[in-house]
Amino acid sequence: MQWARAANYAVEQDRAGNVFARRTGRRDGPAVLSGSHLDTVPTGGPYDGAYGAVAALCALEALDAAGIVTEHPVEAVAWAGEEGSRFPLGCLGSGAFAGLNAMAEIDALRDEDGTTFAAARDAADGLLPGVPVRAGFPVPAGYVELHIEQGPILEHRGVRLGNVTAIAGQVRVEVDVHGEAGHAGTVPMELRRDALSAAAELALELEATAREIGDCVLTVGRLSVFPNQTNVIPGRVTLRIDARSADEGRLAALGAAIADRAESLAERRNVRVESALIEERRVVTMDPRLRGAVAEAFAELGEPAIDVPSGAGHDAMCVAAVAPAAMIFVPSAGGRSHVGNEYTAPEDLQLGVAALTRSIAAIDRLLSKAT
Ligand code: HGY
Ligand code: MN
Ligand code: MN
Repeated sequence: MQWARAANYAVEQDRAGNVFARRTGRRDGPAVLSGSHLDTVPTGGPYDGAYGAVAALCALEALDAAGIVTEHPVEAVAWAGEEGSRFPLGCLGSGAFAGLNAMAEIDALRDEDGTTFAAARDAADGLLPGVPVRAGFPVPAGYVELHIEQGPILEHRGVRLGNVTAIAGQVRVEVDVHGEAGHAGTVPMELRRDALSAAAELALELEATAREIGDCVLTVGRLSVFPNQTNVIPGRVTLRIDARSADEGRLAALGAAIADRAESLAERRNVRVESALIEERRVVTMDPRLRGAVAEAFAELGEPAIDVPSGAGHDAMCVAAVAPAAMIFVPSAGGRSHVGNEYTAPEDLQLGVAALTRSIAAIDRLLSKAT
């Protein structure tokens, strides 16, 4: 906010916690939007999300420095809550912005302490003080997001820029396994209904199922054991499952398999199982025209680039529901991300900003012709 204001960009926020910095164009009206999320995973590195949010501001300043006057206003955006680290829904900010998740649904989300999103937003340290709050979610003319690849393809191919083709779809499912807590020393094995042993069996079955379905990924990224006490047989276990595929059919097969395996587990292990779908995001294809504009920007830089799919989810998958969207990747060392030693070389970070700046200008030209 301070950086944007120092550069004379108008700063606004919305009720989902997204923050926007607006650079004027010849016209008013829908902006060419660029940015990424400011939140990350608790054990994450410094680039996932924050790089794209900062790069968008750098791109606005680069347009200033080059004296480029765009037709459309250009807005840098910092999305809120993309990871689902505090509130369970991923892409919380961009999902609200795109109308994929109703504010009433988001306001009612609760964090680990039971605090609702609405209470967190309306608290003193919620929305930014002194920043106008937009009433709604204005549809942009187009969207381009710069992000680290978070995978090994660019590095493996020795290429520094990626033009994203599509973003894998994903489902997040919460499964509660209810067994029976008891004394770890006195309940005979044949009488136990150990919720953790049942959950472990489910996790291994789902891993095997994902391998059978193929061209998809699945993990149980989060497990909560209750009462989580060494000498008490676990009575309840909550699993949070993350399953993805770039193929809608396989994604549907994954969702069905999770429900089916949970049900057969309940039978076999004499436990009660409840499943809840926390989040569902479709496979999203990036806009071909905007991808052409990104390719034009890469060519201006004389930098080799490749088309690359995204296994990771991004805010672009939500924004694409309301506006044409494109994404640019720069390499991740060792394909590492969501870990502390996530790394991208400074020269690649800078190249990404140059590519983003030129892409914004190319998209502005493209969309000015179209209207
Ligand atoms: O999980 C993802 O793909 C993203 O980092 N939210
Ligand atoms: Mn992430
Ligand atoms: Mn990200």
